[in-house]
This record gives sequence, structure tokens and C-alpha cells, in this order.
Amino acid sequence: MILGATGSIGRQTTEVADRIGTPIVAFAARTPSAALLDLGVDHPEAIVCVVEPGDHADVFRSALGDRAHFGKGAMTEVAAIPDVTVVNGVVGAAGLEASLSALYAGNRLALANKESLVAGGSLVTAALEHGGGELIPVDSEHSAIWQCIAGEETSSIMRLVLTASGGPFRGFSQTDLASVTVDAALAHPTWAMGPRITVDSATLMNKAFEVIEAHYLFGLPYDKIDVVVHPQSIVHSFVEFVDGVVKAEVGFPDMRKPIQVAISHPDRVAIDHEPFDLVGTDLSFERPDLESFPCLALGYEAGRIGGTATAVLNAADEVAVAEFLDGRIPFNAIARVVSAVLDAHDAREPESVDDVADADLWARGRALAECETVTG
Ligand SMILES: NC(=O)c1ccc[n+]([C@@H]2O[C@H](COP(=O)([O-])OP(=O)(O)OC[C@H]3O[C@@H](n4cnc5c(N)ncnc54)[C@H](OP(=O)(O)O)[C@@H]3O)[C@@H](O)[C@H]2O)c1
Repeated sequence: MILGATGSIGRQTTEVADRIGTPIVAFAARTPSAALLDLGVDHPEAIVCVVEPGDHADVFRSALGDRAHFGKGAMTEVAAIPDVTVVNGVVGAAGLEASLSALYAGNRLALANKESLVAGGSLVTAALEHGGGELIPVDSEHSAIWQCIAGEETSSIMRLVLTASGGPFRGFSQTDLASVTVDAALAHPTWAMGPRITVDSATLMNKAFEVIEAHYLFGLPYDKIDVVVHPQSIVHSFVEFVDGVVKAEVGFPDMRKPIQVAISHPDRVAIDHEPFDLVGTDLSFERPDLESFPCLALGYEAGRIGGTATAVLNAADEVAVAEFLDGRIPFNAIARVVSAVLDAHDAREPESVDDVADADLWARGRALAECETVTG
């Protein structure tokens, strides 16, 4: 089942599933796009959920009959169909409820939607424990770590090192960043992704989210999770153990690999692939520049505060990125807006999705107000 089926992760998941012969029981996306309809037509057994059908429900009903389902509740319900792998490629905190639904049902959740863990990490880990299913990361860095620590004790891990490409503005000063354009921010050097994560990669907020994601996935404190900039994106992350041994997962950047690993685990399915040959390739590593890219430090700050602080971090960033993409605030205002919202927040431990939703809503309102002051 693929949630966020029409996006970058969703499209690549369909490709992988079709290629390795995994049947797809359902697709879900937000809008009633032609791409979503085509997926339903091409996969005649699959349910198709349109979260916000608008005036187009009839088009889907007449093409797909009772395989067409509508509304946010429909996506949450299909995620609980028993004994399926749910690939969550929804963008944003909107993916949280479906993640919880899949895990409470005891399903395997192949998680690309890192915002599920950023916004509601403690709820996700509780759902995993309660349902007894599996949580397998799809994010390439976390897939790398997950593969490196298979069979290892958490106590033998000294630290995790997440690699970051550094994005399109690596090496830029704060002054340089003041005038970068939307098109430049969307031109990621190594990965082709949806617009929100691409801008988050340019600010390093994506890496901040990944630090929080790693904290919840692997149960390690923030001082054992480091970030290093590695522009070639060949080393997808590495793990240093207490005996000094270091394991890394490496390969050419291609999201279809971690997607396939998450779907086919514990099997490895043979596919035609480019031979891995690094001869003549220079690999480099450098420390992240926290002065030009303060979002990374904001991620550690929110993570250490805990509770609803990380949901607030995500929601404020979602708003600020949307405002930047619409040309209403400059690139380097994103961090300022998020920082101001985080400073104004009184964090508490969320006990339910409603608590997360309340914090998220508050942060969106506050972020919009902050954006007004930037433009005004
Ligand atoms: N792209 C990558 O290479 C990559 C790598 C690692 C992790 N991730 C993570 O994977 C997630 C998806 O990223 P992406 O790049 O694939 O994003 P994307 O290309 O923007 O696609 C987002 C998908 O989510 C759907 N969606 C948006 N809001 C929704 C809602 N409220 N309910 C249901 N579906 C909704 C969209 O449907 P509509 O098109 O109808 O709006 C679309 O299918 C993000 O969390 C991202 O951080 C992505």
C-alpha cells in the first residue's frame, strides 16, 4: 500500500513494487489528480483513497467503482488493512495518523514520512509497541543505519553519523543566502525530491528532522547522533561502535534502493543495477556550518526540549517553507521564523494525536504571524 502515491517517494515505490512483483493493495494521495486515477486504472485490484476529492469524487467513482474511497479517515482506515506493508510517502505531519493506524494494526510501516516521528515520535513508538508490527525506515540515511546495526546491541553503539549532502547552498555565507531564489533552492545537487524536502535540504532543516527521526528510530540520545556533510551522497550514513569498528552503507544515490529494502526485508531481491565502482571518485567530508544553516541547531534544540517542541518545529517550518516557495519571505527568514515560534512555545508531552494537532495548529498560526513581520 502506498500513501502519498503521486509524490516522488510514491512514484518510485510503485516502480519498485511493480518491478519486484509485490502486489499493491491501495494508493492514497491528497488531490484527485490524473496521476492518482491512472494508478487505480493500472492496478485493477487496488483501493484508491483521495483525501481531498473536491468536486471530482464522481470522476473517480465512475472510473473505479467502489474501489474509490474519499476523505482523511479513508486513508487512516486503509492503513489498518491487516498484514500489509504500508509505505508512507505522504509529505508533512498529515502522515502521522496513517502511520499510527498502520502500527496499531500490527502492520509493517515502511516510513519515508519522517514528519510522523518529528511531530509524534513518542506516539509512534507507543503504537509500534502496542501493535507488535515493524517500523522500517525508508529515508536513505536511516535505512543505512538500520542495515548497519542489524544484529547489534544498542549498548554497543557509540554514535550514529548521518551524512548530509549540504544542499545547493553548501559553502554559502549568511550574506550569500540573503538573496537566493526559489529555483536555486529547488535545484538539489544529488537527490530529486518533492519541493518541501528539497527546500528543507537547502536549509539543513531536513537533517535536523533526520536527527530527531534517528533518536526515535534507534532509541539513542541526541549527543550520540552526529551530522557530517558529504557532498557526493555516496556514504549514506555510518555507525561507530564502542570497540572502534565503523560500519557504513554506501552506494550511488537512488531512493529505490532503501524503498526496496524496506518492502522486501528480510529478503534481498536481485535486480539489474549499475555496478558500484568508485574508482576515480573523490569522497569528502566536512563539518556542517551552523552559522549559515542554523536550522540544524534548532533541530537539536527542539529534540532536547522534547514533547510537542518537535511538532512545533515541523509545523513552523512547513509554513515558513510554503511562504518562501510562494515568494513571500526570503530564504534565510525560514530559520528566523522557526526559531521565534520555538522560543514562544511551552512544550509538553503529547498524550494523543489531538495534543500534537493542537501544538501543530498553534505553531502554524504563530509562524504565519512571524512571516507577516518578516514581510511587513
Ligand atoms: N523524495 C525523496 O527522495 C525523499 C527521501 C527521503 C524522505 N522523503 C520523505 O518522504 C515524504 C514524501 O516526500 P516526497 O518528496 O515524495 O514528497 P512529494 O513529492 O511532495 O509528494 C507528497 C505526496 O504526499 C501526498 N500528500 C500531501 N498531503 C497529503 C495529505 N494531507 N494526505 C494524503 N496525502 C498527502 C501528495 O499528494 P498530492 O500530490 O495529491 O498533493 C503526494 O502524493 C516526506 O516526508 C519526505 O521528507 C522523501
